[in-house]
Amino acid sequence: MSLRTLDSLGPLSGKRVIVRCDLNVPLKDGEITDDGRIRASLETLDLLINQGARVVVIAHLGRPDGEAKAEYSLRPVAQRLSELLGKSVAFAASTVGDETTAAVDGLADGQVVVLENLRYNAAETSKDESERQEFARRLAELGDVFVSDGFGVVHRKQASVYELPALLPSAAGTLISRELEVLDKLTENPVRPYTVVLGGSKVSDKLGVIEHLLPRVDNLLIGGGMLFTFLAAQGLPVGKSLLEKDQLDRVRGYVDEAARRGVNLVLPVDVVVASSFSADAEHTVVASDGIESSPLGSDALGLDIGPETAARFAEIVQTSSTVFWNGPMGVFEFPAFAHGTKSVADALTRVSGLGVVGGGDSAAAVRALGFSDEQFGHISTGGGASLEFLEGKRLPGLEVLGW
Ligand code: 3PG
Repeated sequence: MSLRTLDSLGPLSGKRVIVRCDLNVPLKDGEITDDGRIRASLETLDLLINQGARVVVIAHLGRPDGEAKAEYSLRPVAQRLSELLGKSVAFAASTVGDETTAAVDGLADGQVVVLENLRYNAAETSKDESERQEFARRLAELGDVFVSDGFGVVHRKQASVYELPALLPSAAGTLISRELEVLDKLTENPVRPYTVVLGGSKVSDKLGVIEHLLPRVDNLLIGGGMLFTFLAAQGLPVGKSLLEKDQLDRVRGYVDEAARRGVNLVLPVDVVVASSFSADAEHTVVASDGIESSPLGSDALGLDIGPETAARFAEIVQTSSTVFWNGPMGVFEFPAFAHGTKSVADALTRVSGLGVVGGGDSAAAVRALGFSDEQFGHISTGGGASLEFLEGKRLPGLEVLGW
């Protein structure tokens, strides 16, 4: 079977089209700090608007745990969407119910309404299939057809992602089609040398992907908070740095397997350690095997890869033909600890083949550091979803679209 795409739905003029987007954007004090996911959703929405569809956008924001918490409202997102589409966008303050039905019924051809956060309703994420089914059934009443375009949530078995598509004629939007086109190039015969850069705080989030990628990559570069578990697995003291003690054996196993397979597993040779987790903390560069020998002693807290490591990583990245990068190299939100992330991002812009930024924090990081989307081969909108895709997992939200 292959992915059902928009054309399989036939003419959509005058039809009520429910579109599941991933508009889960970061907000600070009610302001959107990175609107990348909203911009990535525009193509499908524009296509539908231009066809004269009546567009009903459904999405989630954060994890409000089934409660209508104001800080998770999609209202600011609807406002930003309206600015980006250059047309007015209605907002329904509930996801299902009379008010929502009236808002949808009131749409003229080519008009758009955004419904409030799906996750205000506990049934959206319920583990109980019958609860999800019932919620999906109520959502389905709002549309004639369904378009799934929230790539960032296709790994979630949730009512709007998994149950709803089965209740209406359904297809993937262009965002999902494009994501799959690119991510496929990373899994099916990637052009070599193929390098994967992994960072972020938790090694346990990346275990599946490391396991799946070891037989496939030429270079695996490890940075971010997770690097300290790799150093500790080699018996090196890491001070107060992040450490997942329960993963040490597993990590040792990966290091051995990489050696057996001839994979170039590159760990940092130097790191930046600080006295505390703050933007203005006292900090210094130390060799990876000298973390506790620094003046900070056993209080040393690693917050970035060091400059020599950053240069090595950059060299490997920019001379590779295919690169996938997920997870910041350090605490990029603090300028003193952003150098590693910036170096990798910069090198990625120089890859002559395919350079992919893998969603979530990494996508937000490159934009926060002043890079533009056009400088990269592809910026995935899916953090967890792109990782699970690379792990080779079957993703529920894609399976229901025929993938
Ligand atoms: C994401 O931010 O990765 C997606 O929107 C999924 O969100 P979730 O991890 O809360 O399900």
